[in-house]
Amino acid sequence: MTIRYAAARTFAERVLKVNHAGENGAVHIYAGQLLFARLTAPGMVGELREFKAHEESHREIFAAELERRGVRRCRSFVLCGIGGYTLGVITGLFGRKAIAATTAAVERVVLAHLRGQLQVLEDTDPAAAAAVSRIVVDEQEHHDRSLAHLSKGRFWPALLDPVVAVSTESVIWLGMRL
Ligand SMILES: [Fe+2]
Ligand SMILES: [Fe+2]
Repeated sequence: MTIRYAAARTFAERVLKVNHAGENGAVHIYAGQLLFARLTAPGMVGELREFKAHEESHREIFAAELERRGVRRCRSFVLCGIGGYTLGVITGLFGRKAIAATTAAVERVVLAHLRGQLQVLEDTDPAAAAAVSRIVVDEQEHHDRSLAHLSKGRFWPALLDPVVAVSTESVIWLGMRL
């Protein structure tokens, strides 16, 4: 028997597929950063591995929810992986502050979207809301622990905040419409 997957139709289905693609991007950011972090930020390797494991479990939560609903993954899934890996490798080369500034910037945008998604989903799709709320605590922790690495460091946030905000917003905007 072949399972036929359909394109996302409802808001909840779009959110699930965009978040699934976004988590793939997050996994790849950390994978890219880990490539050089052993040399440029050895003290962060453990934390990056831990964060990457969280992102893999988040991706699994959304993958399972899409599969249960018979919805195919986002067309931006592979793009998110490539973009995330590229961002990760470049920032990983520059070490601790660049790595932490990337996570803080990504999570700031992501957390704002997750809260907005939850407001709609809590009334319309409790199962999708549950999937989203399962990841919020981890994302907040990634944000807060990364921010703690950046005390007094203003250079990397000033450079990366706008770049990351525009690219993350674009990916979400595009994913919701694909
Ligand atoms: Fe995540
Ligand atoms: Fe995260």
